[in-house]
Amino acid sequence: MLRLPRRAVLAAAALIGFAAPAAAQAPFPTRPISMIIPFAAGGPTDTVGRLVAQVMGNDLGQAVVVENVGGAGGTLGAQRVAQARPDGYTILLHHIGMATTPTLYRRLAYDAVNGFETVGLVTEVPMTLIGRRDLPATNLRELVALVQREKDKLNLANAGVGAASHLCGLLFMTAVQTQMTTVPYRGTGPAMNDMVAGTVDLMCDQTTNTTEQIRAGTVRAYATTTPQRIAALPDVPTAAEAGLPNFEVSVWHGLYAPRGTPAPIVERLNRALLVALRDENLGRRFAELGTAPVPQERASPQVHREFWQQDIAKWRPLIQAAGQYAD
Ligand code: MLT
Repeated sequence: MLRLPRRAVLAAAALIGFAAPAAAQAPFPTRPISMIIPFAAGGPTDTVGRLVAQVMGNDLGQAVVVENVGGAGGTLGAQRVAQARPDGYTILLHHIGMATTPTLYRRLAYDAVNGFETVGLVTEVPMTLIGRRDLPATNLRELVALVQREKDKLNLANAGVGAASHLCGLLFMTAVQTQMTTVPYRGTGPAMNDMVAGTVDLMCDQTTNTTEQIRAGTVRAYATTTPQRIAALPDVPTAAEAGLPNFEVSVWHGLYAPRGTPAPIVERLNRALLVALRDENLGRRFAELGTAPVPQERASPQVHREFWQQDIAKWRPLIQAAGQYAD
């Protein structure tokens, strides 16, 4: 039997130990990645997701293919990703709903707080209160009077409990102390089609979906939900300017992978996200749509996780006080 000196055995073991992690890190990605958008195609999350996916795919050397899994206020798409293999090939682009659904929903089929690895924040999008173009109210004051007078005849579209449009609609109804009938869609993309066709009355939606329709005059804009006017929509007053102070909300978006995705893969996805957020074309398009990529220092997985968890804590008491839950 061959006997090796103890020092040689230790040296060989060290070499194997040194080589093992390198061998374990298979190249990533070697095939296309699926980016789940938890709302319908053609809406604001889809628009942001497709712009980001394009640049990330170029950087990763593999296509990042957008798949729309809408329904139940974004929770069906989030569930798909929480339950996917944690290998980096299924990722989620979702918004502020990640912070509100853990409280809004009494029962979810996935862990909405611990079921994900954060990859990085993407953008913060202002919202606008819009109405069908022939609504008999030309400004916010007239709209508030109309809503208070004719609440039973008017409806408010949204993308389901947990959607940004749902949250913004609740804030609007609270601000004007009036309840309206709400009409849920799988996303505000299809809701916008119905508003342009004149079959729904009002909606509070992200500028990434509303800016071009407002500019084209196919819908009426009443206010932005921002402290200052938006450069992309300089003629639209803020809610405070138009007479409704305290009606402010913006919608942050982030990228997630299933819990347990290996750290090197999360880091690689984050590097591709950082490239996307620096991309000039993406920045220009975001600006045209009234938004901007987050600065690089806000796009790390750590900053994203802290921000997300703080936002869950911020919304929990407000949702509990409003007593607005879904099953
Ligand atoms: C969408 O993409 O349809 C949305 O982000 C809807 C929403 O959250 O209001």
